[in-house]
Amino acid sequence: MSSNPLQTVGLTEQHDSIIDESAEILMGLSCPQKMLSPKFFYDQTGSRLFDEICKLPEYYPTRTELGIMETHVSEIARRIGPHASLIEFGSGSSLKTRTLLEHLDRPAAYVPVDISKEHLVSAANSLKTDFPQLEILPVVADFTHPFPLPDPKITPLRNLVYFPGSTIGNFDTEAALELLSVMYQEAGEDGALLIGVDLKKDTAILEKAYNDSAGVTAAFNLNMLERINREFGANFDLTQFEHIAVYDAELGRIEMRLVSKREQRVRLQGHDFDFIQGEHIVTEHSHKYTLEEFREMALLSGFQVDKVWTDPASLFSVQYCSRRKQQN
Ligand code: AVI
Repeated sequence: MSSNPLQTVGLTEQHDSIIDESAEILMGLSCPQKMLSPKFFYDQTGSRLFDEICKLPEYYPTRTELGIMETHVSEIARRIGPHASLIEFGSGSSLKTRTLLEHLDRPAAYVPVDISKEHLVSAANSLKTDFPQLEILPVVADFTHPFPLPDPKITPLRNLVYFPGSTIGNFDTEAALELLSVMYQEAGEDGALLIGVDLKKDTAILEKAYNDSAGVTAAFNLNMLERINREFGANFDLTQFEHIAVYDAELGRIEMRLVSKREQRVRLQGHDFDFIQGEHIVTEHSHKYTLEEFREMALLSGFQVDKVWTDPASLFSVQYCSRRKQQN
């Protein structure tokens, strides 16, 4: 039997900010525009379906970001410099993290931060095998709030916050600004941020990426209802909701919806929620940015964008942001 690496690497748990999820679901379904947080996508089935989405021909972000990383990783690693502590928001067992770790000059530590201990354990497990010299210090925390960082054995010359995948797009503007401010704090003096940001493009390309022909995104979206039935005791009839994703060009975001096929009532923890035919629940926003828009947002959170790497078709970007120097 293999030993659990989290017994040998220091696992920090920070639970104060984890909120009551039942209350959150009840509140979301009580709003005039019913909504459910995208965080409920990621149970075991949801995580597996998301991995499948990443391989779909229509879903360009994952392979495009990986291509950018592979093409420019030496330059990215040079910019980050030696003895950096890599602090990943979300637990990365992905190829992108590996590519970066392989090229970093003597990284001081790898600190994956995730709300799910399970995800952290599997990320730490797979990385520990391939990077045996690397100190891995996982932190269980809701990274939308500031959290204390563990102390690596080697003092880092710089903290590099890594946030790949354009997950920043799943936060609405105000929340995205708050999250970037948390990253600013965690980066600390001389710290920096390396972030994947999906770019604005043709509506047709965007809508295809979120309405794939194999129906994987539909299964991913509907699985949220399955999970809420199982874990929170709701009685959603999955055959009576359908998935659609729509791009709102004015707001610059994809909206994932679950549309009620008929008039129906759903019960959850003693509360009734009525749907008319065609009414929808919003399950996710995925914001897309121009380079200018993201630069503005970074500036508002204290960062300056020093360098942007994109693919030849400018579908996606990887951006290196340093903490803006205070001007007197
Ligand atoms: C995780 N996140 C960046 C994905 C996105 O593209 O917004 C989630 C996703 N939803 C549907 N497909 C992928």
